[in-house]
Amino acid sequence: MSRYHEVYDACQRDPQAFWGEAARALVWSKPYDRVFDPAQGEYGRWFTGGECSTAYNCLDRHVDEGRGDAAALIYDSPVTSTIKTYSYSELTHEVATLAGVMTDMGVKKGDRIIIYMPLVPQAVMAMLACARIGAVHSVVFGGFASAELATRINDSKPVMILSASGGIEGTRVVKYKPLLDAAIDLAEHKPNYCLVLQRDMAPGDLVAGRDFDWAATIADAKAQGRTSPCVSIGSNDPLYILYTSGTTGAPKGIVREAGGHMVALKWTMPNHYDIKPGEVFWAASDVGWIVGHSYIVYAPLLNGSTTLLYEGKPVGTPDAGAFWRVISQHKVSALFTAPTAIRAIKREDGQGEFIKKYDLSSMRTLFLAGERADPETIKWSERHLGVPVIDHWWQTETGWPICGNPVGLGVLPVKYGSSGVPMPGYTIDVLDDRGVPVTGPNMPGTLAIKLPLPPGCLPTLWNANERFHNAYLRDFPGYYTTADAGFRDEDGYVNVMARTDDVINVAGHRLSTGQMEEVMAMHPDIAESAVIGVADELKGQMPVGFAVLNANVNRPDADIEKEVMALVRNHIGAVAAFKTLVVVNRLPKTRSGKILRNTLRKIADHEPWTVPATIDDPGVLEDIQAKIGDRKLS
Ligand code: COA
Ligand code: AMP
Repeated sequence: MSRYHEVYDACQRDPQAFWGEAARALVWSKPYDRVFDPAQGEYGRWFTGGECSTAYNCLDRHVDEGRGDAAALIYDSPVTSTIKTYSYSELTHEVATLAGVMTDMGVKKGDRIIIYMPLVPQAVMAMLACARIGAVHSVVFGGFASAELATRINDSKPVMILSASGGIEGTRVVKYKPLLDAAIDLAEHKPNYCLVLQRDMAPGDLVAGRDFDWAATIADAKAQGRTSPCVSIGSNDPLYILYTSGTTGAPKGIVREAGGHMVALKWTMPNHYDIKPGEVFWAASDVGWIVGHSYIVYAPLLNGSTTLLYEGKPVGTPDAGAFWRVISQHKVSALFTAPTAIRAIKREDGQGEFIKKYDLSSMRTLFLAGERADPETIKWSERHLGVPVIDHWWQTETGWPICGNPVGLGVLPVKYGSSGVPMPGYTIDVLDDRGVPVTGPNMPGTLAIKLPLPPGCLPTLWNANERFHNAYLRDFPGYYTTADAGFRDEDGYVNVMARTDDVINVAGHRLSTGQMEEVMAMHPDIAESAVIGVADELKGQMPVGFAVLNANVNRPDADIEKEVMALVRNHIGAVAAFKTLVVVNRLPKTRSGKILRNTLRKIADHEPWTVPATIDDPGVLEDIQAKIGDRKLS
């Protein structure tokens, strides 16, 4: 029997009592005045007046409680043939030393620090070192190019950047240092210092006076016994900023406050993920994404569990058995990954032959998120792994699951295609176009969360409170709009079907088509463009660009396609995975000039489509249909 309904209802009845009780699991340097103050911020603030150190709760606390020898982090890197375990004592010492180095370089409480690194333990240490001294980190995913990094440098104005000279993506060496240098050149704001982790596969040149060698600087600090203590910050002070794709090209700086974040994440570890202190939890994501922030770094450590950091891919490092090797070798209790990773494995090992080679008896649950888990992927995983496979829905903005299946409270029946039931603190309504909740089950609409949002969710955007209000709260007063559309069934399970804005999801990576259109506009031959996400068997969606060329351009489409691919790769990054351009004479538009993207997408996906009543010139659609024919675009 699941206790879900009892627990959810208790939170609905008295959220302050519920979260106040959850907050007792953490150490507060100064107790909060109120669990929730509705008068503060845009929709109220959690744990106001309190002070805390997330880093203390993640690390020193466990050492102080006598668990210093327990494993905190296991680094498994097939791409460099390395396996290394850090105990809580060791990780605390590494973080305290790095924090000391940063303090010596002038970093103070409230300063921003950018972290641009591959998946190495030093990236985790960097995040925790910022948290230790009250600096605000902003991790930029390694797959983003210099221009994206520069945008984030200009917006967050870091005093220092922590980076690495290179990384390995599968078998491809990625040189981070030239990307970092180019980004600093491009940016108007300049950091004072960069600390650079030199990696053998791609050593980088250091700029005198600005760049410092990570290993040498840390060795010096250790020789001098230099460390920094934990600095407490206010519950409502920012712990980090994480930029994510939004409705226009400019990324949104999601702000995460310290207090509510620790409380919410700590609650999820036993209750949603069913993980105890000492057990190994593996989120096969990247610290550049929200899943990595919450479930590689903060939540497992807040819980005193062991987090696994895997620098590899689901396939090709070396084979489709890589995930199962890691689970058996490190006795992983639960794996959290994106459905696309499982599809990549399934494509190479459909019969699950690799799965049979390993002892997976430690594994109790597979959690999937980042995109809708298609029923086939869930069924395949269930059949071959023999454990519950749980889809759950969340966003960078919320930082933890909105809907899921709280296994720790007793697993609820899995419904294929649904991301489960609302977590405590989330009241979800399905709204029609006028913002009125639909009555009755299985009716589609925009998924909106009733205010206030629970602890841990974003209070605002970095230096952009009005944008926060306009993007999330304005359209449906009293609600936070998720920009996801879907429906709720008769048992209260939520199905998330599509975005209502320009965001697409490519291999679990959140990308903005609007931003890709801005990049396409830089091409001298392109007059107008539209980018849509088409269905892809492996990655879920892939971007496809449609371009109208300037008059008198007379060059092969294939040449322009190659140039646009390079532009997108250089301006956004490899992760945008832009590979297909369709040159058309005109784009389909409404009479008021809006591009009919949904119809364009249906044509590209070879789905049935009808001519929208608002179209300006119906002939455009026929032309595009003729141009695409039965070509598969992804
Ligand atoms: N640094 C630099 N480049 C990166 C990168 C990083 N951290 N991550 C991805 N890239 C590059 C890839 O090398 C690839 O480059 P290429 O075009 O030269 O091949 C490009 O970005 C696209 O990457 P991706 O879409 O991830 O495709 P892939 O073919 O490399 O891998 C999967 C496909 C399915 C194996 C992989 O996407 C995957 O494991 N996805 C899971 C995603 C995930 O965990 N998301 C987090 C939410 S839980
Ligand atoms: P991100 O902010 O990168 O975590 O991406 C959030 C978006 O990914 C959501 O708004 C959804 O569109 C999508 N998403 C994440 N998890 C799921 C899921 N389990 N089911 C459906 N969509 C999901």
